[in-house]
Amino acid sequence: MANLFTNFAGIKSPNPFWLASAPPTNSGYQIMKAFDTGWGGAVWKTLGVPVVNVSSRYGSVNYRDTRMMGFNNIELITDRPLADNLREIEEVKKRFPDHAVIASLMVESRAEWHQIVKDAENAGSDGIELNFGCPHGMCERGMGSAVGQEPKILKMIVEWVMEVATIPVIVKLTPNISDITRPALAAKEGGANAVSLINTIQSIVGVDIDNFVPYPIVDGKSTNGGYCGPAVKPIALNMTKNVAQHPGVQLPISGIGGVETWRDAVEFMLLGASNVQVCTAVMHYGFGIIREMKRGLEDYMDQKGFATIDEMVGKALPNVMHWEDLNLKYKVVADINEDKCIGCQLCYTACEDGAHQAIGLSSDPLNRTPFIIEENCVGCNLCSLVCPVENCITMKRKDDQTQHLTWKERTAANNVPTTFNDPLAGGLHHWVPEPMDAFKTKTPKHYKG
Ligand SMILES: Cc1cc2nc3c(=O)[nH]c(=O)nc-3n(C[C@H](O)[C@H](O)[C@H](O)COP(=O)(O)O)c2cc1C
Ligand code: SF4
Ligand code: SF4
Repeated sequence: MANLFTNFAGIKSPNPFWLASAPPTNSGYQIMKAFDTGWGGAVWKTLGVPVVNVSSRYGSVNYRDTRMMGFNNIELITDRPLADNLREIEEVKKRFPDHAVIASLMVESRAEWHQIVKDAENAGSDGIELNFGCPHGMCERGMGSAVGQEPKILKMIVEWVMEVATIPVIVKLTPNISDITRPALAAKEGGANAVSLINTIQSIVGVDIDNFVPYPIVDGKSTNGGYCGPAVKPIALNMTKNVAQHPGVQLPISGIGGVETWRDAVEFMLLGASNVQVCTAVMHYGFGIIREMKRGLEDYMDQKGFATIDEMVGKALPNVMHWEDLNLKYKVVADINEDKCIGCQLCYTACEDGAHQAIGLSSDPLNRTPFIIEENCVGCNLCSLVCPVENCITMKRKDDQTQHLTWKERTAANNVPTTFNDPLAGGLHHWVPEPMDAFKTKTPKHYKG
């Protein structure tokens, strides 16, 4: 049976699921409830300089039937008194000694950093997370993402913290930067024990088109906020991979951004995260989602033969390479399973107007099942992605599986196109109709029967 116990940079927790620093970790009441439900750790809502919050403060991207596909906030760090938070950390640790409680911190001066690190340690925190990510409000005061975007400053503050810290220090990185490995390296150079990523992405989620003001609205005005939830997962996964693959960083990574299910967690771990943190999914569905997450992760690990989390961390990294190292000889084409097809013809429209005119229709009005014109299909996947029936369109391998040639190898062999009209350019299968064929209702290749 899989063991979910984790030791993240020296911080032990019964499972790799932590609550991210956010409203679900605002109080001891919530964190005790979360631990009781099954969460392994919690990063306390950021403690630090005194703030005043606004009302309202959240916005959402609802995509079709899915509410909060993306979520945005203009909230600041905790607005509760520091003494209350520290007392509650102590109470949580007394009641749950084996769970991980991490104090997220954000202050300004070296003296303030020294003091708050000591306070967090004295309260019994198992670790410290430095919030260098908040993309609104705090950055205007020289904190949050203003630090995360300046590797030199980030390194200096990490050094201040390391001067006094005796418990593991995690640096939480901002995604609002072109190359996340630069602050990750700075964190390493400053002496941090781990990194966590991502914090929220600067965003505007929508505009009230009657009153001409973006959401969320504060007395008729708004400001840019931080984006999170399922929509940001692809960005977070890519950044996790970038940090994990960087030979200079090599720190444990806590993966954050759009984690909602055990599968999301597995994806982060396969790309190098040793644990995950969750915010939006808990704000949406509550602490109870942990039950399914733990069970799903255990089942997956048992199925794959992973006894511990460490065994799966980074398993997908060797398969992520630069584009120039991909095999140009690999060739797939779409294949339609006629038995599954419901005749919606979405694949036809997508390929005809949005891809490579490689799907045809029957001229028999009673036959709505499209067919693939193999010689035109470049194997882009689009039709299989738009098809609403699971596994109705699959991609079938067509090359003889004996050849392997990359762009890098072609470059080395002087076998790459060098002029705009070079015949060496182009993919393996490029066929385009004549422009005037656009006005024909039926072209020979697109209709049969
Ligand atoms: C309302 C709200 C408040 C947040 N407050 C903090 C905070 O105080 N400190 C912090 O480090 N991150 C804060 N975050 C960011 C989350 O910890 C997390 O990095 C981000 O939401 C991405 O994870 P998710 O997609 O699971 O929500 C906040 C996020 C939200 C939605
Ligand atoms: S999208 Fe799928 S179900 Fe619809 S016509 Fe194409 S193959 Fe059939
Ligand atoms: S894989 Fe791309 S090119 Fe081939 S049929 Fe589908 S959409 Fe068209």
